[in-house]
Amino acid sequence: MVFKNIKIEKKEGIATIKINRPQVLNALNKDTITDLSKAVEELDADKNIKVVILTGEGDKAFIAGADIKQMADMTPLDAKEFSELGHNMLKKIENSRLPFIAAINGYALGGGCEVLMACDICIAAKSAKIGQPEINLGIHPGFGGTQRLPRLVGRMKAKELLFTGRNIDADEAFQIGLVNMVVEDDKLIETVQKLAGQIASKSTVQTSFIKSLVNKGADIDLNSANSLEISYFSSGFSTNDQKEGMKAFLEKRKPEFKGK
Ligand code: CAA
Repeated sequence: MVFKNIKIEKKEGIATIKINRPQVLNALNKDTITDLSKAVEELDADKNIKVVILTGEGDKAFIAGADIKQMADMTPLDAKEFSELGHNMLKKIENSRLPFIAAINGYALGGGCEVLMACDICIAAKSAKIGQPEINLGIHPGFGGTQRLPRLVGRMKAKELLFTGRNIDADEAFQIGLVNMVVEDDKLIETVQKLAGQIASKSTVQTSFIKSLVNKGADIDLNSANSLEISYFSSGFSTNDQKEGMKAFLEKRKPEFKGK
């Protein structure tokens, strides 16, 4: 598929999506959001892909937010459609069978922070700046920031960041649980690729089960969530990966998972 504002590279089961609008710090306009939506669908359907890395082109930004120039003259109806477009794209990332690793190579603001939060794991470069500065534009987040942020960092911290629009550095983001790890800028891609390789060597059936269980479980009561785990756990025993994993352990060798 040909994309306007993103680039995709595929290598050894790992797909890297780069938002490619560095001239506007990779701001998300409608075309870019549509590209991302289509890319997630395409990668989901590609059985050779096991993990996705999401990052921004250039050394300044992951994504500096939704495109303010495009939003400036929107009517309420336009804004509703734009918000739905963003929400639907992020839902696709969350519902994808693939683990998404966000590699935060600079600003992750507004819509950029919202993309980060829909990913499964996030590694930030030391110089990254993360936040929801929408309040400074006279709006609030429209791609899930008011909902995913409190779920990740707690309601009080979320409200502080949303009310003030204060951007935080990578170390503070790590302290509040918004990113998994902070690395030196020049080690970001290497670290993310290593992590992606590690995850790609596992059973893709199980990585997709785990993602689905954690995401679905977070939105339902504990009893229902545990029932879901029992059901996924039992269906895992119909896979070759379960047979291979346990056989390899007993034979004292490394398993070779086929994702079946
Ligand atoms: N939308 C559109 N263009 C953007 C942009 C955005 N979110 N962020 C940066 N740009 C553009 C700038 O307008 C500028 O373009 P020109 O060269 O044509 O003037 C270019 O990218 C470079 O940006 P700056 O010159 O501003 O770079 P800087 O280093 O001085 O500042 C920054 C960097 C602090 C990130 C600053 O660009 C900034 O504050 N950007 C906006 C951040 C923001 O408010 N994001 C939230 C958007 S709203 C949102 O996301 C709503 C939602 O939830 C759906």
